Amino acid sequence: MTTQNAQATSITLRKPDDFHIHFRDGQLLDLTVNHAAERFGRVGVMPNLIPPVITYAEGLEYRSRILNALRDGNTLDPLMIMFLQKTTSVECIKSAAQSPEFLGIKYYPSGVTTNSSSGVSNLKDVYTILEAMEKNGLPLLIHGESPAKNVDVFDREARFLEDQIEPVLKDFPGLKVVMEHISTSQAVDFVNAYEDRIGATITAHHLMYNRNDMLGDGIKPHMYCKPILKRATHQDALRKAATSGKACFFLGTDSAPHGKGQKECSSGCAGCYTSHAAIELYAEVFEQENALDKLEQFASLNGAAFYGIKPNEETITLVKESWTPEAQFTAGDVNIVPLRAGEEILWKIK
Ligand code: DOR
Ligand code: ZN
Repeated sequence: MTTQNAQATSITLRKPDDFHIHFRDGQLLDLTVNHAAERFGRVGVMPNLIPPVITYAEGLEYRSRILNALRDGNTLDPLMIMFLQKTTSVECIKSAAQSPEFLGIKYYPSGVTTNSSSGVSNLKDVYTILEAMEKNGLPLLIHGESPAKNVDVFDREARFLEDQIEPVLKDFPGLKVVMEHISTSQAVDFVNAYEDRIGATITAHHLMYNRNDMLGDGIKPHMYCKPILKRATHQDALRKAATSGKACFFLGTDSAPHGKGQKECSSGCAGCYTSHAAIELYAEVFEQENALDKLEQFASLNGAAFYGIKPNEETITLVKESWTPEAQFTAGDVNIVPLRAGEEILWKIK
């Protein structure tokens, strides 16, 4: 349900879902979980904790900790994701496939990003696991970057697409695949070419920014993420894809908190925190693209359809009213600088 006119001042849509989020654990959950719950009905919870969430049982335990962190009045349905290992068992795959609390299994090429050293390096090494996933209908969620250290950081996604993914799609025609946080025009073209069987999430930060924003006028560590922001032509391709209304593209924020000290230092961590304003930031982008009428499709319908779940019944209303998020949030003894800290945001949740 969407209301819109040429200069919309209000838009109502079914409650959106965020199919890619990092909550972390412990003292961070109060902040991260409630920011998400204020905006989203369901979230796909990434498993790159220390130690990672590998088994079905660990997924359920983590889910309980997340639900315990919900403040009174907030609701959220966390959909759990297991971290693909060479040892991932068929039993865990079967249990997760039958459980509405689980979304899929995440493939992080070993060492490619935050807390991913325990992953596998090549999908060729886990064909029996992929076979079980295909058979049981459990989706494979992919961090699509080449882990090889000699591949240029800006080429890692394109190289991954060339090297690793096509053989898997051919060998497992029934496997559901999501390319997470796509960041290049090559990935957009790739997903379009396989649109009947693969999906892709797109973050707010990859839609809002390109590498000039991050590096062109002073280094902005809070814009540093993986996959790294690319040149403006890629940003344009992503904006076109997200606002196209095509079913294969859907919302996944990849909101990923790191302590201020871990971002503003000599070897800063990758990750942008956007949970505090996620749907509002997407609304800004869609408005700039004259596509507010496509926001509900992208944020509330496409992802649910891909995963075979019903859209949320509830609605949210966004109003064109500016507000300024905090310069930083405090979670226990960690300070987190969100994206757009202290800068005006044009849409607000009513
Ligand atoms: O920027 C990122 N941060 N990309 C990822 O893939 C992981 C995430 C994190 O967990 O910090
Ligand atoms: Zn992520």
